[in-house]
Amino acid sequence: MLKGKRILITAGPTKEFIDPVRFISNASSGKMGYAIAEELSSKGAEVILVSGPTNIKCNSNTIKVVQVTTALEMLQACQHYFDSVDIVFFTAAVADYRPLIMESSKIKKNDETMTIQLTKNPDIAYEFGKIKRDDQISVGFALETDNIIEYGKGKMQKKKFDFIVLNTTNENGEGFGFDTNKISLLFNDDSIKHFPLKAKTEVAKDIVAELETRIQNPIAI
Ligand code: C5P
Repeated sequence: MLKGKRILITAGPTKEFIDPVRFISNASSGKMGYAIAEELSSKGAEVILVSGPTNIKCNSNTIKVVQVTTALEMLQACQHYFDSVDIVFFTAAVADYRPLIMESSKIKKNDETMTIQLTKNPDIAYEFGKIKRDDQISVGFALETDNIIEYGKGKMQKKKFDFIVLNTTNENGEGFGFDTNKISLLFNDDSIKHFPLKAKTEVAKDIVAELETRIQNPIAI
């Protein structure tokens, strides 16, 4: 059923440079996005993986990997594919802000304090939501420390996700950096499905299986 479907996935963190050797980033490993890419590819989908900097080597040579560093680069790379894809997974932990000015030389430590002014990065999922067609499916991710369902619902509506993968950092082995993840899936009809703690490769299988169910049963999406 996913054979021949064209699927775009964003994965990993982004790096936002302060000067040539320093940057703002986050602890995203990219493991979840890469696992989803591998799972979709194994089902015959045509996968384009737009990845921020990670240490992961993509095993499948059928996945087209587009490496980017910053949020602006990630947006530009994704915009190239938005129109031609059937499904998009927004797995990346895009930095919310970037330095307003990137200094061209290394900043010297002259003063006791220093202030870096930040400016908001574009929201890639929101940009896609604005132009998303009825025949396209969009899946989002949310990592929160509290009020996960409420925030997840808000994000799903704002970014026009068909469903959103919720995960929290509360328990050991969940989320950023770990090999395991405990998720819930929240759908745009307000239904919710909970899953136990699993290896990210198994979590990817659950998410892709749910996608297949929803493709088969489009009323539910
Ligand atoms: O950062 P936030 O919790 O709002 O992220 C929710 C979803 O939006 C995730 O799927 C993430 O990949 C996506 N996102 C994005 N571009 C951003 C911020 C978030 O695509 N600048």
